[in-house]
Amino acid sequence: MSYPYQIKSLAQYHDDYKKSAEDPEAFWGDVASNFYWRKKWDKVLDWNFTEPKIEWFKGGKLNITENCIDRHLATMADKPAIIWEPNNPEERVRVVTYARLHKRVCQVAQMLVNNGVKKGDRVCIYMGMVPELAYAILGCARIGAIHSVIFGGFSAQSIADRLYDAQAEFIITCDGAFRGGKDIPLKSVIDDALIGNRTVKRVIVYTRTRTPVSMIKGRDVWWEDEMDYAETQVEKDGKVFFPAEEMDAEDPLFILYTSGSTGKPKGVVHTIGGYMVWTAYTFVNVFQYQPGDVHFCTADIGWITGHSYIVYGPLAAGATSMMFEGIPSWPDAGRFWEIVQKHKVNCIYTAPTAIRSLMSYGTAPVEGKDLSSLKVLGTVGEPINEEAWHWYDENIGKKACPIVDTWWQTETGGTLISNLAGVTPGIPSWASLPMPGVQPLLVDERGHEITEKDEHGHLKGNLCIKAPWPGILRTTWGDHERCRTNYFATYPGLYFTGDGALKDEGGNYRITGRVDDVLNISGHRIGTAEVENAINMHSGVVESAVVGYPHDIKGQGIYAFVIYNGHHGDENLRRQDISLTVSKIIGPIAKPDKIQFVTGLPKTRSGKIMRRILRKIAEGEIANLGDTTTLLDPGVVDEIKDGKL
Ligand code: WT7
Repeated sequence: MSYPYQIKSLAQYHDDYKKSAEDPEAFWGDVASNFYWRKKWDKVLDWNFTEPKIEWFKGGKLNITENCIDRHLATMADKPAIIWEPNNPEERVRVVTYARLHKRVCQVAQMLVNNGVKKGDRVCIYMGMVPELAYAILGCARIGAIHSVIFGGFSAQSIADRLYDAQAEFIITCDGAFRGGKDIPLKSVIDDALIGNRTVKRVIVYTRTRTPVSMIKGRDVWWEDEMDYAETQVEKDGKVFFPAEEMDAEDPLFILYTSGSTGKPKGVVHTIGGYMVWTAYTFVNVFQYQPGDVHFCTADIGWITGHSYIVYGPLAAGATSMMFEGIPSWPDAGRFWEIVQKHKVNCIYTAPTAIRSLMSYGTAPVEGKDLSSLKVLGTVGEPINEEAWHWYDENIGKKACPIVDTWWQTETGGTLISNLAGVTPGIPSWASLPMPGVQPLLVDERGHEITEKDEHGHLKGNLCIKAPWPGILRTTWGDHERCRTNYFATYPGLYFTGDGALKDEGGNYRITGRVDDVLNISGHRIGTAEVENAINMHSGVVESAVVGYPHDIKGQGIYAFVIYNGHHGDENLRRQDISLTVSKIIGPIAKPDKIQFVTGLPKTRSGKIMRRILRKIAEGEIANLGDTTTLLDPGVVDEIKDGKL
């Protein structure tokens, strides 16, 4: 595998950046021609941000699994596509070669067809981090079914909402998942999610933990049985064959639900051609991947990072992708470094929250581990603080590995702003330069371009992007208007990211965090409105307001102000009841870190909660609350200040 589109020098970066801006169609047409198309596209790009309408490589026919698997078979059949490290280090590692991956994906595709799945159908995947999760995703893509992976930390209610929104008819799950010292009962959560569900016809259950599960006749089947049968269909005389469905570049590849500033998660839709080109292009350039390197992205495939940089990007580039089932701190805080040593990992890509949590164990877990295989370190998910950056640089990279700080979002498909390892300079806590194809713009509240520099010589504003790159979302599932209002209406003609940023004189960007009512908890996005809705479901809760506050490990923690009028138990029991309610409605990831009971919330005369004040109180900036004279009842502020946790 060679990558003619790999940027090799700073001069080439500037050159490619310029070309991509001046003639995006020529530039991306060239990049895309490095992939396998059954038929070439009619037009590289057609777009407007008003509807929005965004079409890349329209009319081009392909199947992404032929690009991620089949085309590598001639030269790399025996090369590892996926190396799977189990939760328990005593358990056997699985090395999945491209040939084996091909066979498994063909089997899954056949199994899905056998179970009635057709092109365009939605398949919900709720599994732990086992190789079968990757097979399931790719099996869907092979027959043109649209996968929607749901992270294992979401509750039955969240799954039910997503199943309904996507009108999904099929589910692939596991009996359970291993996560550190715990077994998570996935199938039983699915059973709860299916109470009252009218669309799901079939649930395929892979055995991982052999936790007892209920199996409903006519609905639930075992993965192993179905795969064994499918094997007899796809393998003849030692040859494996299952024809990949011919798809249009603009057919949907997957839906991934993500939170926004409203109470209801949105189904972000990515389409096949542009997403493939973008994930492979950014993978090869940001990490400066070289054939044979072992790439270890520590994310869960339930999030976009896992979709793009464990599965699609690496496989489209014919890479070797590490997949890890466990957590960083079990059996001890040296787990990542042991994996790096054991598998001679060349690039590790993780989140600032993981780095901060590992920092808290000191350097003992790193000592004695051979990390000399590492060439590149990466971070994603939230702004990385300088302390964590330096710890990563000194203790893991031994000051010899570039750190790529990759800024992107579920909606962007892949990285938009990042240094390119060893090619463009990295600056601690700055995401740095935009990828070719990405044209950022900083605007003020009214959408005017920021031109005045602050006292440090930086431009500071809301981060927008002027034109589409191949990996941009196309719509939100079932509700295109929602996509328009969420991303393209705040500043007409621009894609609005929801983030604030600084820009320096060298054109580098530093992301300062969300400017909307969205929290970033351990690199995971959660809307305050969503958490409030869940808290308000508790029978004793009258009203609530949720804000973020700085948290040493998670980056941000969830602080809830709650008006309560129930009578059950003391404050601590009530807090636990509320947490459990949130856990049932959204999932354990959305549980508040702090719950303060109050008798009133600061509201304007028109009844709007003044979150600015609550945010300041939660952050501990009590002395400087700003103007409170417009409040309906300024008295509540004193009470809230006095009760701060
Ligand atoms: C939000 C997107 C991209 C995959 C993981 C999260 C924040 C992400 C960075 C970074 C500063 C970052 C932004 C963004 N974010 N990467 N390198 N520096 N902030 O995906 O759940 O869609 O969240 O994560 O606030 O908007 P997501």
